[in-house]
This record gives sequence, C-alpha cells and structure tokens, in this order.
Amino acid sequence: MAVHDLLDRPLRDLRVSVTDRCNFRCTYCMPKEVFGKSFRFLPREELLSFEEIARLARIMTGLGVEKIRLTGGEPLLRRDLEKLVAMLAPLGLDLTLTTNGSLLAEKAHALHAAGLRRLTVSLDSLDDETFRTMNDVEFPVAQVLDGVEAALAAGFTPIKINMVVKRDVNERSIVGMARHFSGRDFNLRFIEFMDVGNTNGWRMADVVPAAEIIETLATEMPLQPLAARYRGEVARRFRHQNGGGEIGVIASVTQPFCRDCTRLRVSSDGRLYTCLFAGHGHDLRSLLRSTSEDDMIAEEIRAVWQNREDRFSELRGLQTTPQPKVEMSRIGG
Ligand code: GTP
Ligand code: 5AD
Ligand code: SF4
Ligand code: SF4
Repeated sequence: MAVHDLLDRPLRDLRVSVTDRCNFRCTYCMPKEVFGKSFRFLPREELLSFEEIARLARIMTGLGVEKIRLTGGEPLLRRDLEKLVAMLAPLGLDLTLTTNGSLLAEKAHALHAAGLRRLTVSLDSLDDETFRTMNDVEFPVAQVLDGVEAALAAGFTPIKINMVVKRDVNERSIVGMARHFSGRDFNLRFIEFMDVGNTNGWRMADVVPAAEIIETLATEMPLQPLAARYRGEVARRFRHQNGGGEIGVIASVTQPFCRDCTRLRVSSDGRLYTCLFAGHGHDLRSLLRSTSEDDMIAEEIRAVWQNREDRFSELRGLQTTPQPKVEMSRIGG
C-alpha cells in the first residue's frame, strides 16, 4: 500500500486509558511473571486528571473524533470514574467503556446514571478453571456474570462481550460462550490472540484463526453474515438465525484492518499512540500542563496524526528484528 493511501484515514475514534493497574493478570496482557508484586505501576500524579482528559476530549472533538472508549488497565479501578463519565457525556459523543466486569455489579448503576450508554465486558471462558488459567484471578466467573446482569439491569443494552481465543487454552469454551450469550441482547466477539506488548510470549501457533472459529460455530448453530455498519468496522458480524444476539470475529492477525484504522490512543500518563503496537508515544501531558492554548495542542495532535504511517498488523511477519512496543495495560484494548 502506498503511503498516500494511508494519509486519508480520518481520526474518528479515541481510546483513553485511565489507569495502568488491573486486578486481573491475563496471560495475554499482564502476565504475573512480569507484572508481579515488584512491578512499578504509575504513581497517581503521573496519570492524567479527569479535567485533563475532558479537555483533551473537547480538543479532539474539534479534530473529528466521534467516539471515546475509556479503557485501562481496568478502568473501574480508577476512583470515581463516573465523575469522568459525567464530564464527558455532555460532549454528545459515542461514549463507551471496556472492563473486565469484576467491579461492575457495584458500579453499573452509577456509570449509567452518569451518562454512559455502551459497555464492553472482557470474558474468556465460562469455566472457572480455564478462567483462572487464562486470566489469573482468584474469584469465580460468576462475579463477572453478576456484573453483566447488573449492567443489563442498569439499562446497558446491547452489551458487547470480548473473548480472546488462545489455542489449547480456551478454544474449547467457544461454543459454550456462543450458546450462553445467544438469544439475548449480547454481542459476543471472538478475538485473535495478538502480539501486543513485549511480555505475552506470543506465537503464531497460539492463534486460532477467525475463519476456524466461524467454522466451529457453524457446525453447532446456524449463523447469518451481517453487512459492516461502517467502513473499517473491526468485527465481522453474524446473527443467530434462531434467535437474538450477534456474534462477531476480530481477525486482527489473519486479516488485518490497518488501512481503515481511525483509532488514536492516549495512555494513562498522557502519551499519544497512533498504533496499538507503537514503540513511541508523543508526550501530551507536558503540553496540557504547560500554558499551551487549546489551539496549539490541537495543532500538535493534528501533526502527529497526519504524519502517521502505522500499519503494524499488515506488516507483521515482514519485520526482521522485533522492536519494543507499548504494553496493552498502558493503552488498553
Ligand atoms: P465498538 O466501539 O463498540 O464498535 O468497538 P469495536 O468493535 O471497535 O471493538 P473494541 O474497541 O471493543 O475492540 C475489540 C478488540 O479488537 C480490542 O480489544 C483489540 O483486541 C482489537 N482491536 C481494536 N482496535 C484495534 C486496532 O486498532 N488494531 C488492532 N490490531 N486490534 C484492535
Ligand atoms: N490479544 C488480543 N486482544 C487483547 N486484549 C488485550 N490483550 C490482547 C491480546 N494479546 C484486548 C481484549 C480485552 C481487551 C481489554 O483488550 O479484547 O477484552
Ligand atoms: Fe486487565 Fe484487561 Fe489486561 Fe486482562 S486484558 S490484564 S483484564 S487490562
Ligand atoms: Fe491500527 Fe495499528 Fe491496529 Fe493496524 S495494527 S489496525 S494501524 S492500531
């Protein structure tokens, strides 16, 4: 693909990490061997404040951003997150949040009342043993499912469920998850395990290709493909022919979607990353904390976006020497 083809990707989608901490240790994101007791997470003063995030969001709206996703780490670990939601909701953007669901039962109502309308919950298995192995947590799956029910009761609908699939770890949970979340207002997405960060020991052999996931499901339940809702939609979607709910696959490894990528990420310490796999982030926090006017900050962001040439997933495999990448826990899914 010529570089000029990449330059017409508009900036539409902003993802903001509100903390780098998490109460899970998913093997594909924060393996305990690296993110153990002695790992140093960011001190509070290094995190962007809610006021700084809201200011950035306003500036980015002027640059074309239509959607904001709050992520982490685990965003619900950030104290009073509903206050940030209440500050962002009046911007009138599509505001959403990705969570591991463990704290949702206590938080769902306040988040909805603050103006959040969409929610994505990560869940990789319904089986406690598999959940423990993949996500390295001490509590049962039921805690996440209770959170999902609380979110439904609070008014979030439909709810997206993200399941990362790893070969020989949770692939046997695929059909069970599809059955559990079908017939109701859920949108379950199976995600290919990716080589994000530097610590998850990724191997191509551990990736279950999306095409294989669909093949497995199609032998168990009739599925009908749905058209993409917008250019660059991340998931390929299907509806259950015999009832409600949708399933989708996110084939970021076997069928990369960089040429339509409109996503910009801000890490919890205020760095701007133009790709999930970027090695370098542009420091926005210093600008926000200096006397810079909004216009100047907008110009800086515009320049970063216009100069981007990222298409990591399309070039995967061509890379001869692996380069250091930002950790997923710093910039979120
Ligand atoms: P909606 O805003 O609800 O439409 O969400 P979405 O369909 O864009 O998906 P979401 O933001 O929940 O992303 C789901 C997963 O897809 C992420 O957790 C990542 O695993 C993967 N993903 C999302 N965006 C990108 C991206 O830009 N590059 C790559 N390689 N993977 C991505
Ligand atoms: N591969 C694919 N998706 C990942 N996520 C985190 N790490 C990975 C990975 N290695 C995504 C999952 C999860 C969200 C928080 O981040 O979708 O639901
Ligand atoms: Fe935590 Fe989400 Fe990373 Fe799992 S994927 S360790 S839940 S931030
Ligand atoms: Fe966008 Fe980078 Fe993901 Fe490609 S790999 S879709 S450029 S974030």
